[in-house]
Amino acid sequence: MDKLLITGGRPLAGEVRISGAKNAALPIMCAALLTDQPLALDNVPRLMDVRTMAKLLGLMGVEVGPQADGRLQLQASQIKDPVAGYEMVKTMRASVLVLGPLLARCGRAKVSLPGGCAIGARPVDQHVKGLQAMGAVITVEHGYMNATANRLKGARIVMDLVTVTGTENLLLAAALAEGTTVLENAAREPEVVDLANCLKAMGARIEGAGTDTIRIEGVGSLAGARHRVMPDRIETGTFLSAVVAAGGKVRLVNTAADTLGATLEKLREAGAKIAIAGGAIEVEMAGRPQSVSLTTAPYPGFATDMQAQFMALDCVASGTGQITETIFENRFMHAQELQRLGADISIQDNTAVVKGVERLLGANVMATDLRASASLVVAGLVAQGETLIDRIYHLDRGYEALEHKLSGLGAKIARVR
Ligand code: UD1
Repeated sequence: MDKLLITGGRPLAGEVRISGAKNAALPIMCAALLTDQPLALDNVPRLMDVRTMAKLLGLMGVEVGPQADGRLQLQASQIKDPVAGYEMVKTMRASVLVLGPLLARCGRAKVSLPGGCAIGARPVDQHVKGLQAMGAVITVEHGYMNATANRLKGARIVMDLVTVTGTENLLLAAALAEGTTVLENAAREPEVVDLANCLKAMGARIEGAGTDTIRIEGVGSLAGARHRVMPDRIETGTFLSAVVAAGGKVRLVNTAADTLGATLEKLREAGAKIAIAGGAIEVEMAGRPQSVSLTTAPYPGFATDMQAQFMALDCVASGTGQITETIFENRFMHAQELQRLGADISIQDNTAVVKGVERLLGANVMATDLRASASLVVAGLVAQGETLIDRIYHLDRGYEALEHKLSGLGAKIARVR
């Protein structure tokens, strides 16, 4: 199994190109289920999760073109089998995003329940509740959600909590429903906006995406379209935090700085100089960062997907930072691994208190989930000596060519067996 070997202690310098956003590409790929015409996508990242979604759609009969230069074309001329089996859903929870569009297009769907994952329970009750409000009948048997509906009907849905994929699932379903759907307490994440923009290009009538109230006038059919996937704000934030931890000067291109407000604010607080010019972000860091404290929250708050990388940053900062996780109940697994590198972290309930240390020392560590792996990479880039990160298949799910991009910035990093 592949591992990453990092020899830390070098500043980063140069230019890096950010890929398209995983969390936008996955729901947008599901939009292809809503039309028999081709959906042509640009800026699609080369990631395991994208391949998994392509495979899942392919199993249903969607024609999936080759992925080259960020392009990917999908066409669901017909859907033979509206099913997402356990084997697929267990490898990628976002598979549940097919539920809404399959119901809207085929009137039936069978989707495995995702179950828990390393970072917490992660139920899908809000997805189910919303679809039921639109007239779907959903039963759970043998670990599967069996859903049927004649044509889905528009409804006013007040979501009990802010859920990103829940909002996306309902948005996808409502696009083809009869009448108007109003989603209240909707997620405001930029990826929801990107999905709405793609749906609008296909002919959907959507207002308010990016606010907590989204209004969708269902249409009878949707057409094909061409859409460019937004830049990955979490990949951008991961590179930025790596530079701020390791020091140096890096220009990131193909970014969307307007989606990174909370992250940029915290990096400036840590002492980084950040300049934004069009689609590029330049970051410069000299000396040791200052500790920052943060609390994760739905967008536009500080992203839970950036929490682990900032913990790595705080590990080597001057001062003490408090990190509070409010979105997932078990998202501090990286703390124990960071401690293996010499970090001083104590955890009380959902708050981690991180006392910055003068130096981390390389060690063998284990990646436990996608963003936890990213935090180990950030720490490994700073630690003295060699850090060997095991189970990096987590990284391959969400970071395109991470080791090549970091090597291009002068890091000593290699994939080893
Ligand atoms: C998405 C992102 C993930 C990110 C997360 C939070 C994708 C593919 N993944 O995941 O990277 O970490 O948003 O920003 O976009 N919840 C319920 N019931 C539901 C749905 C969610 O109780 O029906 C809870 C979850 O357990 C969690 C919280 O709501 O505590 C937020 O989860 P949610 O926003 O749904 O996360 P995902 O969409 O799965």
